[in-house]
Amino acid sequence: MPRILSGIQPTGRFHWGNYFGAIRQYIDLQDKPETAFYFIADLHALTTVRTPAELRGYTLDAALDLLALGLDPNRASLFLQSDVPEVAQLCWLLLSGTPMGLLERCVSYKDKKARGLRADAGLFTYPVLMAADILIYDSDIVPVGEDQVQHIEVARDLAGSFNHEFGETFVLPKEKILDSSARVPGIDGQKMSKSYGNTLAVFEDPKALRKQIMRIVTDSRLPEQSKPPEGDHLFELYSLFGSDEQCQTLAATYRRGGFGYGDVKKSLADLAVEFFAAARQRREELVAHPERVREILGDGAATARKKAAEVLLRAQKACGIK
Ligand code: TYM
Repeated sequence: MPRILSGIQPTGRFHWGNYFGAIRQYIDLQDKPETAFYFIADLHALTTVRTPAELRGYTLDAALDLLALGLDPNRASLFLQSDVPEVAQLCWLLLSGTPMGLLERCVSYKDKKARGLRADAGLFTYPVLMAADILIYDSDIVPVGEDQVQHIEVARDLAGSFNHEFGETFVLPKEKILDSSARVPGIDGQKMSKSYGNTLAVFEDPKALRKQIMRIVTDSRLPEQSKPPEGDHLFELYSLFGSDEQCQTLAATYRRGGFGYGDVKKSLADLAVEFFAAARQRREELVAHPERVREILGDGAATARKKAAEVLLRAQKACGIK
C-alpha cells in the first residue's frame, strides 16, 4: 500500500483553495490510519504567526475543520507536526547537505521576500523542513495544490542526493494534483491565498459569504455581449461546485450572452452554502467535544511517531550518527 501524506498550515481559516486543491484529495485518498497521514504544520506556521494564542486557536480550528470536512480517524491519522519531534531531527540531517542555491531558487521564499515578509532562516529553510515531513514517513504520494510542487521536487532532490551519498535511505515521493483544482483563483482572479487577502473561507458565515462573492472582480462586458467561459475566474469558481450539467448550461449562457454577472454570483453563493452545509453542522457538533479532538490528534501522533522513529534511525545510521 503506498503511503499518502500531506500537511496544511494553521495560519488562518481554510479557504476554497485549500479545500479543492488539497483537503478534498486527502479525504478521497484516505483508507487506513497506517497509510494516510495528514498533519497540521504548526512548525511551518511559526514562520508567519507570531502570536501564541492565535497559533493555538488556528491549530485547533484546523483540526476541527479537517474532521468536519470528512477526514476520518478510522481511515487516516491526523496529527500535529510538532508532536513528532523526529521531524526536526531529520531536518538537521537534511539541512547539512542542502545547497544554498537550491533554497534561493524556491519561489515561495522569493515571493514572500518580495512582498516584504521578514526573511528569517525559518522561512528560507522552510522547504527542508517540508522535505523532512515527507521523507520521515517513507511517503509515496503527496496530494497538494500546484503551488507546492516545487517543494516536493526539493524533497525528491534532497532524498536523491542523500541516497547517493550515504546509500539507499529514503523513498522518493511524488506529488498528486487534481487537474480540476490545481490552482483555485481568489476573488480578484489571482491564486486564492491568505497572503493576498482574496480568499473565500470554507466556514464563512453564509450572509458574509454572499457579500464577499458579490465582490468577485469581473470585467466591464455589457450583459448582452457574449463571453468565452474559459479563463474566467467567476466561471472557474462556479465550476468547483456546479454539476457537469449546471456548468455546461452556464458555459452556453456565457457564449450566448444576455446575462449579468450578478446572477452568476447569486447561483454560486447558493451552491457554495449548500455544498458546505453538512460539514458546518458536523463542525458545530465537534466544537462541543474538544476532548475527542485531542484524543484523535494524540492517536494520530502515536501512529506517525512509530514510523518516524524507524526512518530517522535509518537515516542516522546511514550518515554515521548512530
Ligand atoms: P498551505 O497551508 O499553504 O496550503 C495547504 C494546501 O492547500 C493548497 N492550496 C491551493 N490549492 C489550489 N489553489 C489554491 N489557491 C490553493 N491555496 C492553497 C496547497 O497547495 C496545499 O496543498 N508547505 C505547505 C504545508 C506543508 C506540507 C508539508 C504539504 C508543510 N509540510 C509536507 C505537503 C507535505 C503549505 O504551506 O501549504
